[in-house]
Amino acid sequence: MKANIACISGDGIGPEIVREAKKVLDKVADKYGHEFNYNDILMGGASIDVHGVPLTDETIEIAKSSDAVLMGSIGGNTSTSPWYKLPPEKRPEAGLLKLRKALNLFANLRPAYLYEELAEACPLKAEIIGDGFDMMIMRELTGGLYFGERKTVEENGVKKAIDTLTYDENEIRRIAIKGFEIARKRRSKVTSVDKANVLDSSRLWRAVVNEVAKDYPDVELEHMLVDNCAMQLVRDPKQFDVILTENMFGDILSDEASMVTGSIGMLSSASLNDTSFGLYEPSHGSAPDIAGQNIANPIATILSASMLLRYSLNLSEEADAIDNAVKQVLKDGYRTKDIMSDGFELVGCDKMGDLIVDRI
Ligand code: IPM
Ligand code: MG
Repeated sequence: MKANIACISGDGIGPEIVREAKKVLDKVADKYGHEFNYNDILMGGASIDVHGVPLTDETIEIAKSSDAVLMGSIGGNTSTSPWYKLPPEKRPEAGLLKLRKALNLFANLRPAYLYEELAEACPLKAEIIGDGFDMMIMRELTGGLYFGERKTVEENGVKKAIDTLTYDENEIRRIAIKGFEIARKRRSKVTSVDKANVLDSSRLWRAVVNEVAKDYPDVELEHMLVDNCAMQLVRDPKQFDVILTENMFGDILSDEASMVTGSIGMLSSASLNDTSFGLYEPSHGSAPDIAGQNIANPIATILSASMLLRYSLNLSEEADAIDNAVKQVLKDGYRTKDIMSDGFELVGCDKMGDLIVDRI
């Protein structure tokens, strides 16, 4: 197969981790007879430095015309970087939000999985961990508070800021369908998370999810309030399979879910629209404090490349080969700094990439 992959290295550790993911993709191409062409594009701070804006229209067009986008991470140190002196719509993060919207990437999949080999990094007690947990946060990504009308005004000398949380039933239906479809391929349970005891948007969310559920009688559905969900994620994470939720709740809960695995440097993500196109990026940020030191963990980006093969290129055997190589490297005792503990061998970002390549 021939595929065109747009690559956004981005800021901070982005360029280092994307380099390793490309190495891994090249090995896959070589071994399975594919041709992957990379088109490097600028977004975030890297784009601000060159074009003065975090995302240009040309970049959006290149991304659109590719089969998938592989991304590292964007953004800098929010208190020291000059990018954060710019108005909000010119900052690095605005580029990412604009790209999500322009490509209609409404479904964000964030797996939170406890690697057996890394169980000691999990901050939860052994009796809570049990034999591990494996959940998929399905976050709506192009609606809600992130994209609602907003403004800051002054009334009678008092400053007032307004953000609006809007969802229509179609936006809810399409993400709910994705959630049920994914659940079917996993353990067939959906936990839909809302704040239906307070918010109208959540009451509509719940009603539409119930409607969609009728087409999936084989999938168990439960509703959970978001505050309770935040608590259950640390009380009993094993109970979750697919967590289906709106944009802002998903932003918060996915950070929490990744933290309870103890290894945010390991977690990938996919942002999909209603075609096979997707944008794939690690769940972690750009870690500007460790950029350029060859100590970042490239595994989340490598696993995002695996998701790209699975969801956009339909290459599940190749994706499995990457996932297995990552597990093997951990079994063989290699660790980057963020997941290091006594008795293991510490390796840098590039070495970790090489070790994974060797196991494909
Ligand atoms: C994420 C990030 C983004 C978000 C930021 C960088 C705008 O936190 O992908 O979770 O809030 O969606
Ligand atoms: Mg976030």
